[in-house]
This record gives sequence, structure tokens and C-alpha cells, in this order.
Amino acid sequence: MLGIETSCDETAVAIVEDGWNVLSNSIFSSVEEHSQTGGIVPEVAARDAAKSILPALDAAFLEVNCTYDDIDAIAVTTGPGLMGSLLVGVETARVMAYIHKKPLVSVCHIAGHICSNRLLRKEAPDFPVLVLTASGGHNELILWRSDYEFECLGHAIDDSAGEAFDKAARMLGLSFPGGPEIARLAHEGYEKAHKFPRPMIHSGDHMFSFSGVKTALLYKMKEMGGLDVLDKSAKADLAAAFQDAITDTLTEKLFFALQKHPEVQEIHLSGGVSANKQLRHKIHERAQKRKIEFHFPEKMEFCTDNAAMIASAGYFKYKTYPDEQWDFTQVQPTLEKGIF
Ligand code: KG4
Ligand code: ZN
Repeated sequence: MLGIETSCDETAVAIVEDGWNVLSNSIFSSVEEHSQTGGIVPEVAARDAAKSILPALDAAFLEVNCTYDDIDAIAVTTGPGLMGSLLVGVETARVMAYIHKKPLVSVCHIAGHICSNRLLRKEAPDFPVLVLTASGGHNELILWRSDYEFECLGHAIDDSAGEAFDKAARMLGLSFPGGPEIARLAHEGYEKAHKFPRPMIHSGDHMFSFSGVKTALLYKMKEMGGLDVLDKSAKADLAAAFQDAITDTLTEKLFFALQKHPEVQEIHLSGGVSANKQLRHKIHERAQKRKIEFHFPEKMEFCTDNAAMIASAGYFKYKTYPDEQWDFTQVQPTLEKGIF
């Protein structure tokens, strides 16, 4: 399966066998340009995708030393994401599917993140799996029932966890993407130096809201005299307390959902924020106590946006619906939110 992913600022192509065996996973990122602007400029991301998509395809085929003759089908992200960037990947996939007469599978980006936990694992998970996906563009709790069958239990009603990390980093004068920057700085700080809110941990549902934690950080910084007067250690304490609030909230909500769904056999963490070591550690500790299996992506490059996860999701969707035509004319980018 050839996978193509251009939903945001990465242009990625992968070739994956049987939904798990990653033969190639090339990622062309525009993160350097976006770290200068402090966030993603959709126009810049789309132009970058247009420039990178053909070199990314060439790189994948070169790495595996194969041609379209060896490809059974093509999978492409059709949403959610930035329309300009999505169009580049979808139009390229449509053209390649037409020229090379291949089935074209439309893949939801969130389903891709969920399937990142199948990469490099030959055995299927023990379904149902409870998945926490936390990224820049989305944040969900999902019941993964079988290969390509998902039920969204809840999602962020405002900022996602990754977005909160990115905005907090910007407030603290750090670069984009903010998650790894906050995590690095937090390492030198004391998380109990400040107490930020853990939003909605007692709401009794599976929704998230992270914009309040970001506002709490803003007020705390104002109270301390603003960014210009803060030294490195003060910033490190703020980053540590902020990270602690976000990771505590995500962990609490995941285990609340687990309590509500005793049929769950495994818990998984995915999306860009799954790269966060403190979050992994907190979930791991609770999972051990609960004696439930816990997985996060096998490699760091599978946490953030990549095309291997799209190829994997595409493979399982293709297998789940054998009677579909997979006609390229049916595949369009979509503005639909959530999982589809
Ligand atoms: O999945 P992803 O690449 O893109 C979206 O689908 O949105 O996730 C990117 C997000 C960014 O917000 C970034 O700050 C966050 O993942 N992220 C992290 C870490 N690495 C990336 N957040 C916390 N800790 C990290 N180590
Ligand atoms: Zn993503």
C-alpha cells in the first residue's frame, strides 16, 4: 500500500506491507519555515506540499527499490486538515491512481493516528481498544472496535492538547512546534511550583478543553511581571507545571473512559503528543496498576504526522470493505470534522 499524507505542514509518503511492515516512510517537513512564523501559515504549508510531493514519492520508491507495478492500492488522507495542503496530496493520489490503474482509498487522518499503533506490529491488537489521540489539530477518546471500525467517545471542545502546548510555548518565547520545546524546558523545572487547572476531569464525560490552562498560564505570567522579567528557571517551572496539568488531565480522562468501558482489552496513545515522555510514564504507571496492556507508537516518527499510518489505515479499510469500487473519482478532500 502506498500512503500519502499532506493534511498539515508535513508532506509524507510511505510504502507499507500488510498494514504493519513499514518498507519506507519519508517525511518532508516545512517545520523550519513555520518555526520562524511561530505557527502554521496554511498558504505556506500548501505551497511547500506542492514542491515536496513528487520528490517524496521518488524517495519512497527509491528506498524500497520498487515501482507502481509492486503497489496494490493507494491510500490518501482526505481530512481533517488544511484544505490547500489536503488538495495537493489528494490530487496527486488521484492522478497516480488514474495513470497506474490502482484502487484509491480515502483515509481519515485521525484513523491514521490510531493505526500508527499497528506499525511494526504483526499481531492485531486485542479489540476493543481504548485510544487517546492527542495532536495539534485534534484530541479524542475513541473505542477502536475492529480493523477499521471506530466510535468517538469524546473530543476537545476548544484547544487540543498539542495546540495548548504550541500556544504556551509561544507565550514562553519558545519556538514551534511547542510540545517538544515545553517538554525540554520542563525537564529543568519544578512542576509543583505552580498549580494550573485540570479542566473537565470531573465533567463525567469524555470531552476535553485545554484553552483554560493556556489562559491560566497567561495570567500567571502577567502576575509575575511578564515574559521579559522571567529568568530561565522561572520559565522552566512554568513549563513544568503546564506540562503536568496537561498530562494529568489526559491521563485522568483516559482512565475515566476505561472505567466506563470495562470491555476494553488494551489502551493506546497516539498523535503528536504521544511523543511526550511524561505522559507515557503517567499512563504506563496507571496501566500497570490496572493490569491493562498499554501501547504507544513503536517509533517517534510514527507519533507525529506520517504516511505509514495512512497506508496502514488504508490497508485495513480496503480489507474491511471488499465490495467497494475504490474509484479515484470518488475521492475528494473534505472539511468534515472528527473521525470518518
Ligand atoms: O499529530 P501531529 O503531528 O499533527 C496533528 O495532527 O495536529 O501533532 C503535532 C502536535 C504539535 O502540537 C506538537 O506540539 C505536539 O504534537 N508534540 C508534542 C511533543 N511532540 C510533538 N507535545 C508534547 N510533547 C511532545 N514531546
Ligand atoms: Zn496528525
